[in-house]
Amino acid sequence: MEKALRITKVESCVISVMEKLPILSYYTTSRGWSFLISWGHRLAGLTLVGYMFAHIYTLSLLFTPATFDADMKLLHNFVFSFLEWALAIPLIFHSLNGGRLILYELFHMREDEILIRCMVILGLIYILMLGFFFVEESRQIAVAPFWSITLAVSLFASFIVLNKIWRTGNSILWKLQRITGAFMIPMLLGHMLFMHMNYLTGHNSKTILLRMQNPFMKGLDLVFILLLLFHAGYGVFSIIADYIKPGLILRSLTFVVIIVMAISAFFGVRLIVAL
Ligand code: HEM
Repeated sequence: MEKALRITKVESCVISVMEKLPILSYYTTSRGWSFLISWGHRLAGLTLVGYMFAHIYTLSLLFTPATFDADMKLLHNFVFSFLEWALAIPLIFHSLNGGRLILYELFHMREDEILIRCMVILGLIYILMLGFFFVEESRQIAVAPFWSITLAVSLFASFIVLNKIWRTGNSILWKLQRITGAFMIPMLLGHMLFMHMNYLTGHNSKTILLRMQNPFMKGLDLVFILLLLFHAGYGVFSIIADYIKPGLILRSLTFVVIIVMAISAFFGVRLIVAL
């Protein structure tokens, strides 16, 4: 028989506050928490897609470093820095919940309550850690060791998922969604951590260009952007396919998603190669 998880006082307090909030209370009582978590996953995924396009655009300003520096100077204020930090919330939520889904689907880990509790604790630690580096500002982390370790962890995570998913009967695109997700957990969380640890120099064109011109970083950035665009594109497609029946409209929208991602890939790759 499965043991019921004991809810701590802090958890029951947070849950009861959330259940009193206007919109949340309606959905927690009518649809339950798992419905809200999958909606949160979806909304966080779409937020990250929006940020990804904005990020490709800001990086394209590096072609004229003076413009990039002027823009960064303009954006170096409390509100923008706070928003940059706040982006970690959808990122960590989508990453950890994505990891939980992978564990559920492929590794048959069905202890949802324990996993959700781990997600909350790890998420809080990550967000507070970023907040700490954000307040502390000046710090320098060596590029090569940081990214070599992150890449090794990413490759290991994706290899484990690949090994498990290989023989399942799911479509190749579905499998790739999980493999790219596993690859991105260390890469994306590492990226955000790295940028907060090197906050001041991380927003300076000279330092960014120097890092992006390193052949190892160029290779890594190329692999990363292609995997990210695939994951984002397939994610948007699966959301659309949830609402629209197979037919001409779905085919047209799928075509639009492919074109948008292909154009983004073109600009992203050109940016990485040419800078
Ligand atoms: C950081 C590691 C990430 C992991 C582990 C991850 C994992 C996942 C998983 C497992 C799914 C499938 C969910 C399902 O079918 O129910 C998914 C969907 C999705 N992901 Fe990610 N993802 C990550 C990063 C990203 C990023 C950076 C973006 C955007 C740029 C993104 C956008 C999406 C979108 C739009 C969906 C579709 C959501 C839905 O169907 O509800 N993901 N992700």
